[in-house]
Amino acid sequence: MADPLRIAIAGLGTVGMGVIRLIDTNRDLLTARAGRPLQVVAVSARDPSRARGIDLSPYAWEHDPGRLAARSDVDVVVELIGGADDPALALARAALGNGKALVTANKAMIAHHGLALAAQAEASGLPLKFEAAVAGGIPVVKGLREGTAANELQRIYGILNGTCNYILTAMEASGADFETTLAEAQRLGYAETDPAFDIEGTDAAHKLAILAAIGFGARIDFDSVRATGIARVRAADIAQADALGFVIRLIAMADVERGSDGKPHLLQRVRPCLVAKNHPLASVHGATNAVVAEGNFSGRLLFQGAGAGQGPTASAVVADLIDIARDEVGAPFSVPVTGLAPMPPAEPGHRMESTYLRFTVADRPGVLAEITAAMRDAGVSIESLIQKGRAEEGGEVLVAMVTHEGRESCVTHALELLDGSESLTARPLVLPILRD
Ligand SMILES: NC(=O)c1ccc[n+]([C@@H]2O[C@H](COP(=O)([O-])OP(=O)(O)OC[C@H]3O[C@@H](n4cnc5c(N)ncnc54)[C@H](OP(=O)(O)O)[C@@H]3O)[C@@H](O)[C@H]2O)c1
Repeated sequence: MADPLRIAIAGLGTVGMGVIRLIDTNRDLLTARAGRPLQVVAVSARDPSRARGIDLSPYAWEHDPGRLAARSDVDVVVELIGGADDPALALARAALGNGKALVTANKAMIAHHGLALAAQAEASGLPLKFEAAVAGGIPVVKGLREGTAANELQRIYGILNGTCNYILTAMEASGADFETTLAEAQRLGYAETDPAFDIEGTDAAHKLAILAAIGFGARIDFDSVRATGIARVRAADIAQADALGFVIRLIAMADVERGSDGKPHLLQRVRPCLVAKNHPLASVHGATNAVVAEGNFSGRLLFQGAGAGQGPTASAVVADLIDIARDEVGAPFSVPVTGLAPMPPAEPGHRMESTYLRFTVADRPGVLAEITAAMRDAGVSIESLIQKGRAEEGGEVLVAMVTHEGRESCVTHALELLDGSESLTARPLVLPILRD
């Protein structure tokens, strides 16, 4: 029997304990597939006295996670603490600096520091793997790095945040408004006590930046992701979308285009979108994630499954460990860091899209005429316009509109023309439409 792969785990929360449980449960199967045993030798977390449901006495305990990286009996460090910076980052650097392979589930750290860590790993010929950082149990990092490697990808997009998808699909099912549904999601454990990271689209933006780098061979550029969250989506929007043949999903999307300088530019956006009911992403419900990759030879590929949770995330972490046990190193972002293209952010204004607009207006004559005049003056062509009932006195009326396909900049211009109008009682909601 070959020597075991000796593993140190930093972070014994949801994912860390899942990894220990999985390695214990599937021990023989893992040995067969990895070609040698996967053996946890040391662990670290903040509180050594916390009951974690598994006997941890077989493993050495380090109070300081950084010390895992210095142990001579460790081949690979698994970072499962979380957070973009220290202590996770310090541990990652120390592990690679001390000649250890590194596995992490930490999307924030990879989105912010992935290039530097990959450069460090490549310089030493060490594996750096982060399958669990994107879409939990779905093997989409491997899918893009290996499965679609023969293709030029046209677009990568999908549902990358389970909390938002849970909330939007729960609103769809119950008709309840955002705040009520968020509170229920928090009660059930689908949303954090501080949900900002998820509902503002930051978490999906981290994952999108990672997928875009791998899929397009681009230098990772989290700062250029334009993210809009779901907090302004109302029950009325979901009902209106339904009547028009759509559902609402938070869609993360990246694609590449030639700029006026002839060079590739990268557009990365996270936005709530109307998705046609016959699109595969429309039937993704609850906390499920799904990623679509469109290759020039593969055609459209759909990866779907649990985007978080103990079992699925541990499954992705241990898949990385099996690769390392098999000596599969590979460039973390598919091509070596020095070969990743610097792609400036693309300007979306000239993009063609069809849009759903929802206006909240005062209930008085002339309002509709004012809105449609702004659309006409900005060159926006209206496909349908729906005014929802009359409000109680002093209340507000919702006006929903779907535009024909046109330049995004025209819609932006129309909204500029309406800016400051006394007819509008709130900022309009703009949701792009995804039909195919
Ligand atoms: N949960 C998921 O479904 C999921 C899915 C995909 C990716 N991820 C990623 O996986 C990572 C871990 O997530 P998780 O849900 O397992 O987190 P978690 O349940 O909050 O666990 C975090 C662990 O890190 C330990 N820790 C925190 N600060 C520390 C410090 N300064 N020094 C040493 N240990 C420290 C904690 O110790 P104590 O237990 O002693 O407090 C805890 O064991 C994150 O990067 C997350 O984004 C999670």
